[in-house]
Amino acid sequence: MSTEPDNLGRPLRNLRISVTDRCNLRCNYCMPEEEYSWLPKSDVLSFEEIMRLVDRFVEAGVNKVRITGGEPLLRQDLDKLIAMLAERPIKDLAMTTNGVLLAQRAAALKRAGLHRLTVSLDSLDPTTFALLSRRNDLARVLEGLAAARDAGFRHTKIDTVAIDGVNDRELPELIEYARSVDAEIRFIEYMDVGGATRWRMDRVLSRARILERVRDHFGGVTAVPRSDSAPAERFRLPDGTTFGVISSVTSPFCASCDRARLTADGMWFTCLYAAEGHDLRAMLRGGASDAELDAAVRAVWSYRADRGAEVRAGIPDRGALAQADDMRTNPHLEMHTRGG
Ligand code: GTP
Ligand code: 5AD
Ligand code: SF4
Repeated sequence: MSTEPDNLGRPLRNLRISVTDRCNLRCNYCMPEEEYSWLPKSDVLSFEEIMRLVDRFVEAGVNKVRITGGEPLLRQDLDKLIAMLAERPIKDLAMTTNGVLLAQRAAALKRAGLHRLTVSLDSLDPTTFALLSRRNDLARVLEGLAAARDAGFRHTKIDTVAIDGVNDRELPELIEYARSVDAEIRFIEYMDVGGATRWRMDRVLSRARILERVRDHFGGVTAVPRSDSAPAERFRLPDGTTFGVISSVTSPFCASCDRARLTADGMWFTCLYAAEGHDLRAMLRGGASDAELDAAVRAVWSYRADRGAEVRAGIPDRGALAQADDMRTNPHLEMHTRGG
């Protein structure tokens, strides 16, 4: 039985499960600091615990699940979790990865029943890639994307955070690359989320400027009508190639946000920007029954009134949301903990 819509009339449909807060890259827009405090290992949910919560969320109406991180492929035996999820009535089972470990894992993920992949890729230039992610792994990511296609993944997406002065001149080349590997690229405005301690408004390449760059190179760009609550607006080039823009900074999609986020240690956040989470691990490990978990899910969702990105958009001269010192004492503030 689906739970009632939240306080702003939004249904619960989409669950993002972070399976680890660790990452093997250090992207400047997400993990720019040298030191991080990690979630204690003993707090990280087992696959059985995750599945127990997934079943409660599915009962409440979730039919889209996305595995996130940190970098989810750092979690051991992830294909076992995917296989369990694939047995549930989930119409869209996807994963967001940085692609570094994808080449050796793509076939097993496909066999386990994963439907779809989103791979983060911000630059095709090895120097820019290394500067942005502090690792020299561009070639491995490109191998990962090729392996995903060879393993039979279709409708793969590539996520590119567009940053002024970093990769803004590469957008046409990235569109062409995505087309060559049968993927659809989405350009994402650089967001002032928790981990982005170096965020500045003047580094955000806005939707308008992204479209201008693409139009200047390819000629006309036409909008593709929207079909769902997905955050990306889609556009078509004269030759039929499509791409997306996620304008979470200049035009937030809070009004249609149907997302729940579960951190690796079982905290449930109802918004990327929410100050506090709800501790489902304590309920699980404290022996809560399914009925008690169902009641908690219903109650939390019914009170939900978050519209974090819209609230941020209304703040004049805003700077980074959180400072590095805050993160050291509270890892739950991080984007890599909440799942990108
Ligand atoms: P599908 O439509 O299922 O392919 O996924 P998606 O479009 O939701 O994409 P994905 O989950 O990969 O998210 C893409 C980007 O959108 C993220 O990397 C974030 O930058 C941004 N994003 C994701 N979730 C949220 C959210 O809850 N709020 C806001 N404001 N931005 C988000
Ligand atoms: N702004 C926009 N997107 C971000 N991500 C992480 N940090 C940010 C940010 N500051 C998203 C990117 C990345 C995914 C894992 O999380 O899309 O590819
Ligand atoms: Fe890692 Fe993803 Fe964050 Fe980059 S954006 S540091 S790949 S979690």
